[in-house]
Amino acid sequence: MDEEKQQGIGVSAVRAMRLSSRSPALVLTAALAALLCFQITTRTVYPIWADRARESFESDFPPDAGSCSGFYGRITARKTVMSITDFGGVGDGETSNTEVFRKAVRHMKQFEYDGGSQLNVPEGKWLTGSFNLTSNFTLFLEQGAVILGSQDPKEWPIIEPLPSYGRGRERLGGRHISLIHGDGLSDVVITGENGTVDGQGKMWWDLWWNRTLEHTRGHLVELMNSRNILISNLTFRNSPFWTVHPIYCSNVVIRNMTILAPLNAPNTDGIDADSSTNVCIEDCYIESGDDLVAVKSGWDQYGIKMARPSSNIIVRRVSGTTPTCSGIGIGSEMSGGISNVTIEDLHIWNSAAGVRMKTDVGRGGYITNITIRNVIMERVKVPIKFSKGSNDHPDEGWDRTAIPIVKGVRIIDVVSLNSTKAPQLLGIENAPFSEICLRNVTLLGLKQSSSSAGSWHCEFVSGFAQDVFPLPCSELLQKDASWCS
Ligand SMILES: *[C@@H]1O[C@H](CO)[C@@H](O)[C@H](O)[C@H]1NC(C)=O
Ligand SMILES: *[C@@H]1O[C@H](CO)[C@@H](O)[C@H](O)[C@H]1NC(C)=O
Ligand SMILES: *[C@@H]1O[C@H](CO)[C@@H](O)[C@H](O)[C@H]1NC(C)=O
Ligand SMILES: *[C@@H]1O[C@H](CO)[C@@H](O)[C@H](O)[C@H]1NC(C)=O
Ligand SMILES: *[C@@H]1O[C@H](CO)[C@@H](O)[C@H](O)[C@H]1NC(C)=O
Ligand SMILES: *[C@@H]1O[C@H](CO)[C@@H](O)[C@H](O)[C@H]1NC(C)=O
Ligand SMILES: *[C@@H]1O[C@H](CO)[C@@H](O)[C@H](O)[C@H]1NC(C)=O
Ligand SMILES: *[C@@H]1O[C@H](CO)[C@@H](O)[C@H](O)[C@H]1NC(C)=O
Ligand SMILES: *[C@@H]1O[C@H](CO)[C@@H](O)[C@H](O)[C@H]1NC(C)=O
Ligand SMILES: *[C@@H]1O[C@H](CO)[C@@H](O)[C@H](O)[C@H]1NC(C)=O
Repeated sequence: MDEEKQQGIGVSAVRAMRLSSRSPALVLTAALAALLCFQITTRTVYPIWADRARESFESDFPPDAGSCSGFYGRITARKTVMSITDFGGVGDGETSNTEVFRKAVRHMKQFEYDGGSQLNVPEGKWLTGSFNLTSNFTLFLEQGAVILGSQDPKEWPIIEPLPSYGRGRERLGGRHISLIHGDGLSDVVITGENGTVDGQGKMWWDLWWNRTLEHTRGHLVELMNSRNILISNLTFRNSPFWTVHPIYCSNVVIRNMTILAPLNAPNTDGIDADSSTNVCIEDCYIESGDDLVAVKSGWDQYGIKMARPSSNIIVRRVSGTTPTCSGIGIGSEMSGGISNVTIEDLHIWNSAAGVRMKTDVGRGGYITNITIRNVIMERVKVPIKFSKGSNDHPDEGWDRTAIPIVKGVRIIDVVSLNSTKAPQLLGIENAPFSEICLRNVTLLGLKQSSSSAGSWHCEFVSGFAQDVFPLPCSELLQKDASWCS
């Protein structure tokens, strides 16, 4: 679809203009962004879990230097289109529509193999508890439509913990289901005309803060064991916990989304790609109380056992702020392995960290072939940070010998204005992070005393640096660096 192709380029231009209005230096970035783009193939390789026949994969988004949306297949018009009002929905913000949404999806499931279906949500405030989606299905939020998350925890029932975590992330045992949930689906679209899904998470943050939370909080949207997912053109806000969580999924596109949470709301990550492959996240604006985008793959012995990596992840044209966390987080849960990640064209401001990689002894797994390039940061405290965990393990069963391997991380074309702390690159004793490659990295604003090489804090890392200011630690001054080009 040529239109979409043009749009992809259009988006860059629009973002570029928005960026340039913030700072003249960013005009350059925009031009660079256009040049830096690289080709990806849309002939995607399906993961092993997809035991159904592997059909040839066609996409509405052709291979295009401006977009990775080719990870989602063809947008097909759904044969059956209905409105939530057809099922008795009331959009007054007070009447519970939990049963209405559940009934609607039960009804629409019958069209899975018969042309698919679309559920429209018109203007109004649609209060609901958790509901599931179905396959070959579009949830469409019209302009002015707001789905509001129920304030009754019982309307977010407890489900099994994720096998790669072995327990709820915050509490032992099961966890609250997400507001919008899907398991084992294919071809799911959540889109609309800038409609909103508002988790009304405050109640959950209060439970967390006052230590009365019994089970791990739910996500706003979680899709498990699913493939061919498109989430676009909407606003998600006030998630109780991580906002969008694709796990054990493939071919996921999340684009043109606005994701908002109060800057102090605990663990309200924007998007967490977890044990998933072929994930495209682009053109998103995110502000929240935790990482804007994180890549994960399971927790310690549970993640190691499940061995479901995250790979072929592309993140680009993401902008936003998170005062206590990082723009991009790799880990800390990474026990199934993380590889082939490209992150580019980011604009991060007023944040605690820009790019952060976290892991620990006990995690096992690996982080390899990560490229992060063309990042502009403004008032980000620590622009680049690799850290060991804080003894954060699921239970006593973690394996003291499970050392993660971190090898091949390229950080290229970074400008950080008004940073306050030099990078902290802390690897693991006996398992140093290797092939760390920094090129064209300019970090301005570090205190005068910090402008010497000594200000970088490096331990158990090795690699190569070129055109990096201020001069990095000696650990990054390897001579042979053919792998860093
Ligand atoms: C979805 O629809 C396609 C045809 O468009 C069909 O081949 C496929 O089996 C359907 N998938 C499911 C899970 O219903
Ligand atoms: C939604 O799916 C989950 C598991 O995928 C299941 O436990 C739950 O009962 C389903 N909820 C409804 C309302 O069907
Ligand atoms: C992004 O989404 C908004 C609505 O949220 C829409 O108006 C706009 O056209 C979309 N842009 C693209 C490029 O899809
Ligand atoms: C979508 O709505 C949100 C508020 O709900 C607003 O902040 C954002 O600018 C809107 N996006 C577009 C593209 O209209
Ligand atoms: C904790 O927060 C919840 C949700 O706001 C509230 O219902 C509960 O009374 C609070 N408990 C305590 C001990 O403050
Ligand atoms: C997003 O909205 C734009 C403008 O309405 C539309 O052209 C585009 O197809 C939508 N994109 C997706 C992926 O839904
Ligand atoms: C590294 O990952 C990128 C995609 O992010 C891929 O294009 C490239 O081929 C990978 N390199 C290796 C050596 O696997
Ligand atoms: C990484 O990318 C390379 C090159 O495209 C590919 O050969 C390899 O299989 C990918 N690795 C994973 C784990 O997807
Ligand atoms: C260095 O990176 C910055 C920021 O991405 C970019 O504006 C600049 O053009 C790059 N310089 C070179 C020589 O590539
Ligand atoms: C950086 O700080 C200086 C002085 O403290 C200020 O003039 C400048 O506007 C700041 N720049 C940014 C991008 O925050």
